[in-house]
Amino acid sequence: MPGRDSELPYVVTAARRPDPELDERARRWAERLGVRFVERGERSLAKLCAEEGVEAALTVTALRVGLVIPADGTEYFFHPSMARTRVRNICEGGGDPMIAAMRLGPGDSVLDCTLGRATDATVAAWVVGETGRVVGYEAHPLLAALTIEGLATYEIEGFGVQEAMRRVDARHGDCREVLPTLETRSFQVVYFDPFFGQMVERSDAMRPLRRIGLHEPIPAATYEEARRVASRVVVIKRRRGEELPGIPPPADVTSGGGSRIEYLVLEPR
Ligand SMILES: C[S@@+](CC[C@H](N)C(=O)[O-])C[C@H]1O[C@@H](n2cnc3c(N)ncnc32)[C@H](O)[C@@H]1O
Repeated sequence: MPGRDSELPYVVTAARRPDPELDERARRWAERLGVRFVERGERSLAKLCAEEGVEAALTVTALRVGLVIPADGTEYFFHPSMARTRVRNICEGGGDPMIAAMRLGPGDSVLDCTLGRATDATVAAWVVGETGRVVGYEAHPLLAALTIEGLATYEIEGFGVQEAMRRVDARHGDCREVLPTLETRSFQVVYFDPFFGQMVERSDAMRPLRRIGLHEPIPAATYEEARRVASRVVVIKRRRGEELPGIPPPADVTSGGGSRIEYLVLEPR
């Protein structure tokens, strides 16, 4: 069966140039994801997808593992995005609006309910340090697998960002299902960064994630569960002024640093 994540059927393949080691790695990805492996041969990815009856191909090459959607030119692969820049800002005394909203410090614990490619989780893991804990859930199976692998293997120099990436405990799971199973006040901070109703990202870097990731709104009941699980704050990143129906009045709303983003801070229950 092709993979059917978010209605996006895909197969796994390798590079055009025959390479037994890459083929073997691709087969292992296919097995791990429960998705069909197909020989690449000389085919372009557009031809391969058309012939295999899928919309996308997870390609395993020497450079990286990425999902390509030939019809719209999307390519998604793991990278830490702005994590290094944000950590450098913190080191240089510039701070970070998400960290400020969380009032985060060394030794704290954070549950990231919408992990994505774990840029926010990496910055949080850097701040809480070795004595702290960051656990993140990503509901989309392929995104979760790529983020789990990327956090464990991606190499990046400077500021201890790579070490912070390795400390993030990334898991596949839907926060709507996971939160009710967690103990009351088991994390100091519970964090959400769902997709906004309207596209606000100016950077091309976010577009592939938006194209592939889960868009179903987080229900008010999940935010209520988060208030039970958090002992200090629940922080929700949102587009400035966006309505989040059913949530209690926020204790605070902090600016996302002069951008169109803001952080809603809810008190625990
Ligand atoms: C805007 S992105 C988050 C980006 C992330 N903060 C980062 O730093 O990379 C939203 C992510 O949440 C995921 N998601 C959406 N609903 C979810 C849910 N109910 N449980 C877990 N993950 C979810 C999406 O698939 C997407 O990857």
